[in-house]
Formats: sequence, structure tokens, C-alpha cells
Amino acid sequence: MNHSYVHGYDFREGIRLQDQASTLDELLHSDTAFPAGSRVLEAGCGVGAQTIILARNSPGAIIKSIDISESSLAAAKQKVTAEGLENVHFQQADIFNLKFELESFDHVFVCFVLEHLSQPRKALEALKKVLKPGGTIVSIEGDHGSTFFYPESEAAQAAIRCQVELQKRAGGNALIGRQLYPLLRAAGFQEVTVSPRMVYVDSSRPQLVDGFTRRTFTAMIEGVRDSAITAGIIDPQLFDTGIKDLCRTAESDGVFCYTFFKARGVKSTHE
Ligand SMILES: C[S@@+](CC[C@H](N)C(=O)[O-])C[C@H]1O[C@@H](n2cnc3c(N)ncnc32)[C@H](O)[C@@H]1O
Repeated sequence: MNHSYVHGYDFREGIRLQDQASTLDELLHSDTAFPAGSRVLEAGCGVGAQTIILARNSPGAIIKSIDISESSLAAAKQKVTAEGLENVHFQQADIFNLKFELESFDHVFVCFVLEHLSQPRKALEALKKVLKPGGTIVSIEGDHGSTFFYPESEAAQAAIRCQVELQKRAGGNALIGRQLYPLLRAAGFQEVTVSPRMVYVDSSRPQLVDGFTRRTFTAMIEGVRDSAITAGIIDPQLFDTGIKDLCRTAESDGVFCYTFFKARGVKSTHE
């Protein structure tokens, strides 16, 4: 397989992605809507966290959500059915080996997927092939290098670097957000624009303190503890101090910032 997925597919990860999606809904998706009748490909839908937002925000669009993982697709299907959404169709598929008719989608949406791929540019090129000329791609990614917080903590930054290093060893890139512009351009998209979306959290925003600082970001870093220690990247004590310090940023005088990058590009009509 030409991809590697460092977070795994367990239940906890599904919950984390769910928290991530519902907390960030407004920040990331308020300007994502596809016209009625348009055909949208959601590549790497996972357990459907973004799928339900897409389907709700674009009730008239026909959404095809694909993933390489059958178990994630089953979870996504269940979620969409439970929400009573009828404009989504699921299919098991590999981004690098798509069997769809060329130029058959009006829009492509790909969120938190490129960071896990060793060849993100190739993935974008493959997605461009199934996009109609003049069609658009929207890609959303995080960038762990954009993390800063109060109180500052070198141990917390060291714990975050474990995730970055492990993802790199698995062939991915946890710092990919900053590269979306050059990647989309290199893949041949036109009119590329990138909109950085900073999540700013302090205790006046309790939903984000819980949903983002604690249950999304800190939980994700905490999740790599065993792998990081086994790989000899960090001393267990330093890692645990880092997690404690990340939790500390969620207290009443703490502040936490992280930036997502949302890119949009257009497929040329002259290809
Ligand atoms: C971090 S999850 C993101 C899921 C979803 N987009 C979200 O934001 O909640 C990444 C997903 O990409 C899928 N994926 C990875 N490589 C893939 C490939 N080559 N083709 C299709 N899906 C892939 C994984 O199975 C996983 O479900």
C-alpha cells in the first residue's frame, strides 16, 4: 500500500475525529457549500466526521464519499443514516487507484488526508483527473508547527514533536498545512488560494477548551505515547510532563492556538 496512517482506526480515534469535526464545524466549513445537482467527491472520508457537515451544508449536492478502510466506511455510513442524510453514497476506493470516469466530478473535498500520504502531490494529481475542467478542489490540513500556547513548555513542544516525527517515519507530514499552496500549484491547479484558520482557545470559550485543546489536540498527542517511547524518540517522563503541560493550557488562565489551512484550487479548462 502506498499510504500509511499513523493514528490507526480504533474507536478512540473515531471519537477524536468526531470531536474535532463538531468543534471546528463553523471555523472550517462555514464557507464550504456545493450547488444543488453538483457531483462532489469526498476523498478519505474516514468515519464520516466531515461527511455529515458536507451533506448538511449542501443538501442538493450528490456526494460520493470514499475511503480505503472498509471499517471506517461502515462507521461513516451508520452516522449518515442516523442523521437521516440521503445525499451521500459510499464506496471503498484508493485515491491512487480511482476507477471513476475521468472528469466526472464538479468538486473534490479532501480533509486531513494528505498529511498521511507519502505522495500528496500524486494524490492531488489523481484527484484532478476525475475532476471536470473548471471544477474545484478544497483541501484542509493542520500543521503541528503552528501550535503555541501559554504557559509555554518545552516538554509540551517535545511531546508534539514526537507526533511529527512518528508521522514522518510513517511517510506522512504533520507540517503539511503550510505546504498546501505549493502542493496544489505543483499538482497543476489554478487560482490557488489558501485561507489560514486559527483556532484560538482560552477559558472564555469552554467548548473549545474541552473539544479542541483537551479532546482533540492533547488526546492526539497522548495517543502516540507508547509508539514514541518504543521508538526511543523521547524519555517517558519528559513525554508525560509535556502532556501535563498541554492540559495545563486548558486551565482558567491558559491559552492554546493552532492553525488549520484551507486551500482551494481550480482545474484548468485547457487540460
Ligand atoms: C485522518 S482521517 C480523516 C478522515 C476525514 N476526512 C475527517 O476529516 O474526519 C484520514 C483518512 O484517509 C484515509 N486514507 C488514507 N489513505 C487513503 C487512500 N490512499 N485512499 C483513500 N483513503 C485513504 C484513511 O483510511 C482515513 O480514514
